[in-house]
Amino acid sequence: MAIMGALEAFVMNLAIIGTGYVGLTTGTCFAEVGHNVVCVDNNRDKVQALLDGKMPIYEPELEDLISSNVSAGRLAFTTDLAEAVATCDIIFIAVPTPPHDDGSVDLSYIEAVSHDIADALRPEYGYRVIVDKSTVPVSTGRKVYEVIARYSRADLDVDVVSNPEFLREGSAVQDLMHPDRVVIGTNSQRAMDLMKRVYQPFSAPIVEVDLASAELIKHAANSFLALKISYINAVSRVCEKSGADVELVAKGIGMDKRISRHFLNAGLGYGGSCFPKDVKGFINISRQLGAPLHLLEEVENINATQLEHFVNRIKEQLWVLRNKRIAVWGIAFKQNTDDVRESVAVKIIRRLAEEGALVTAYDPKAAETGAKALEGCPVEICDDMYECVRGAEVLVVATEWKQFANANLVRVRELMKLPIIFDGRNVIHGENAVHAGFEYHSVGRKSLYPANK
Ligand code: UDX
Ligand code: UDX
Repeated sequence: MAIMGALEAFVMNLAIIGTGYVGLTTGTCFAEVGHNVVCVDNNRDKVQALLDGKMPIYEPELEDLISSNVSAGRLAFTTDLAEAVATCDIIFIAVPTPPHDDGSVDLSYIEAVSHDIADALRPEYGYRVIVDKSTVPVSTGRKVYEVIARYSRADLDVDVVSNPEFLREGSAVQDLMHPDRVVIGTNSQRAMDLMKRVYQPFSAPIVEVDLASAELIKHAANSFLALKISYINAVSRVCEKSGADVELVAKGIGMDKRISRHFLNAGLGYGGSCFPKDVKGFINISRQLGAPLHLLEEVENINATQLEHFVNRIKEQLWVLRNKRIAVWGIAFKQNTDDVRESVAVKIIRRLAEEGALVTAYDPKAAETGAKALEGCPVEICDDMYECVRGAEVLVVATEWKQFANANLVRVRELMKLPIIFDGRNVIHGENAVHAGFEYHSVGRKSLYPANK
């Protein structure tokens, strides 16, 4: 009983507003450690699907966790934000913060939700903590507080906290259950104490900071990771010119603990719903604050030109792309997800089709989302990775899925018209490709050719 009491001491009622990649996984993991969680979304179809036990996204491990926590009565879904505000001590905001055309962050969803929370709050509910999980420019938390103070009906007992999320799609559950650190930013000790209770079961180090620093940590962290990727991609081009091997260079520099090997994989560049928009957002806010981060403009420039550089290398081999059959493996922005937002694979498919190539594409999880993203683009999406390469003159690997690395290359060779691989993610074993009869081109390494060429 004493143990039970200790375990239950931290249990809280939590609301998560926005049931996307971030909100759904975060809410589910909070429920998994014992909290009572209600996930709110204004998209009725999505909520109905979740209530019917259908998954709106693909994320490893998530489906089982949702179903066990729903069965245990710890996880619920609703469109009723007011009800969630009435019953929950802490309200997390996890709605999108997409970029405007000028790179500034569109905060209209955050503003609208703050407004809805203000409308729903009542003094009799007692103390409430509003937590921003979405990635936002520094000072957004202060504005959320102002909106709530302005639009609520009476004097309320409310604090605003920034608690940025660092999960990666494709490994979101593991990242949430075993975070490197949890960042909590608030100027209120009372809110800090409650937030520490929420995270108590995760036994992760907690970084306690002020509101502005927490907001900045998220933009600075994502931009730094994007910078590492762009750095190694720029180095990969020097490798190509000099005969060096970028994988060996990354290994050699990554063994220095001050640098680390993580996020030094050269490839086609970064995509996804976070890095492109967060780098843009950080550039924009730094400019607004009068401390411009020009360094990040070069990070973006390298990322944009990395794709073009790769397409040019394909052209060097094939000369004219018009009417060439090109198979692309990968549509998702990275492995283990069905997410195609800002996917470099989608961009390369569009680019090759623009050149007049006859493109087929395959992805283990992103066929459906990919078909929507590629609407109007003359690409044939296949449901089998080997069918995709039948009759192809080139195979392009655009996403780092494990099953591409483990492909039966002899079978691929038999199905293709010409034996050419362009590996944009350096996942295929080059020597194996050559043994199977391919000429093998990758990023930042010498091209390999069969002995008879
Ligand atoms: C998140 C974050 O919120 C974003 O700031 C971060 O940088 C990246 O990840 P994500 O979970 O990927 O976004 O977004 P998405 O999958 O689009 O889900 C957002 C959900 O919020 C959707 O289900 C949408 O229906 C819902 N939503 C949106 C609301 O419930 N209310 C709104 O006002 C707007
Ligand atoms: C990222 C951050 O890692 C995470 O902490 C934050 O919460 C959200 O943004 P995510 O976008 O889900 O996560 O995936 P991530 O694994 O970071 O990959 C982003 C992009 O970078 C992908 O397109 C991936 O292919 C690319 N990438 C990653 C590289 O090109 N090289 C690398 O070494 C690592």
